[in-house]
Order: sequence, then structure tokens, then C-alpha cells
Amino acid sequence: MSVISFFVDGEKRDFTTSDSQSFSLGKEEVLSQKETDVVYDQPWYNEGYTESDFLNPDEYNALKDGLTESVKRILREETVINTEGFNLENYHHYVKSNEDHFKVVSRTRDLFSDDFNFPVMTLLPRLEKILNFKLSDIDPKTKEKMHIIVRINRPQSNDFNPPHKDVYHGVDIDNYIPLFVNFWIPVCGSTNKSNLPVVPKSHLLSESKVLRTIGGSEVEGNKYRVCVIKTWDGKNELIRSKVKYGQVLIFSSHLIHGLALNNETDMTRVALEFRLFKA
Ligand SMILES: [Fe+2]
Repeated sequence: MSVISFFVDGEKRDFTTSDSQSFSLGKEEVLSQKETDVVYDQPWYNEGYTESDFLNPDEYNALKDGLTESVKRILREETVINTEGFNLENYHHYVKSNEDHFKVVSRTRDLFSDDFNFPVMTLLPRLEKILNFKLSDIDPKTKEKMHIIVRINRPQSNDFNPPHKDVYHGVDIDNYIPLFVNFWIPVCGSTNKSNLPVVPKSHLLSESKVLRTIGGSEVEGNKYRVCVIKTWDGKNELIRSKVKYGQVLIFSSHLIHGLALNNETDMTRVALEFRLFKA
């Protein structure tokens, strides 16, 4: 076992990693280019991310209520938990075991399924308007439909990914850079102790400065499909997005992000997480 450390908003956190995974630097190249990064022409491209107004208060409330009802229904169907008085912020008071939590998240992975009480596709034109180009939820290479994930992160839990870039999956496995953009929409429990951390401008770094695993990773005994990036330009500091309710965090698929620790003591954080392709 080795220890890797990261700083989130200046606060240091240590994690154990398996010694069987090796870290290496990439080639002398910047992967984010006009042809490989669909947000290249956005006014915020230099930072790699933006927080954009998106839903008015009524729409935000409708989204939250719809998700609350959907998760409640899943709890009734999958567990013996009494859902009286349930709300998303207090999810961890109802779902107390990992076993029950995994039953729920196995269903909340796919927001396009009939489980969900929210018209997801109404979001697409809004996002197109913000970005000023057409989006598609179909992967042009695999023809698969993209899923919207409801990420439920209990306080002080390990319900998060290590620091990574989404683009590496295509780069490592298929030797191909997929043309998509990432979205993250806070639904509840979103604070300066729980929001998604990002590394501003990290998409502009040469791969020769990014020390990471290839393929998956193992952190704190948990296996991840995403790689773990140990350092970028010798640094290991992330800052939390300041995204607010009603906004959407939009970021380049080349941007380093992750480690969305929920450091709240008594509030579950729920966010929608998905990617869309340039049409
Ligand atoms: Fe990601």
C-alpha cells in the first residue's frame, strides 16, 4: 500500500492506493485542441469550465421533486425502508447500509429509464442554447445512448471518483478522442464542502506533465473504471466549483476533476452527471 495525497480547497486528504498500479507520464502533447475539444470556442475555454444559469426556481424545484419521488419509489421497490418523511438531503438517515445504497445506485445510474419522474430531454435544448451548438445523446462511434447519472453522495462517504479526465477512457482503450462535453447539475446538499472539485486550466497541460494510471484505478480499496491522476505539473491541488442550484457546471472532457468528497456532516449531496456529444 502507498499513500497519495490531494488538496481540495487547501485541505489535505490522504488516500491509500494499491502498489500493483503504476503511474506514468504521457507524451509531449496537449490533447485538448480545436479538433478534439468541443468547448474550444467557448469564452471560458481557457479555464476549462463554467457555471451557467440554467433552470429558474420553479424548474429547479420540479427537478428536485421529481427526483425525490423517483428515489422514494426505488427505495420502496428495492428495500424494506420506510420512506415516510423522506427527502434527498436526509437520504443517509434512510439508507444506512452500503448494501441498500448500492441497490439504489444501480437503478439511479440510468435517468432515461422509466424509473424517473423528470422529462430529461427538455434539458437538451437549454444546454444547446448555452453552448451555441447542437448536442446529441448518442455516441457517434458506439451508437449507444448516453445515460444521465444521478450521483448520490452520502456525507463523509467514499461515493466519488478519484481525480481523472473523462477523455482518457477513449484515448487509452480506443486510441480515439470522443467529442463530448461534461455537465454536472447540483440537486441538493451542494455546498462549499461537497461540490465537484476541478483543476482549472488542467486541459492545457502537456500529457508529459500528467502522472497517472492507464485504464482503471484502485483507491482506498475501491476499484474504479477511471484512471487516477496523481500529479499534474507536479501539483495535486483541486478547487471546488461554486456551482449553485439552478446552474449547471459545464466542463471540458479534457479537464481534471473528481474527488467530490462530501465533507458535510449531515447532508447527502445529489447531482446529475452526464455527457453529451457535439451533433
Ligand atoms: Fe468524470
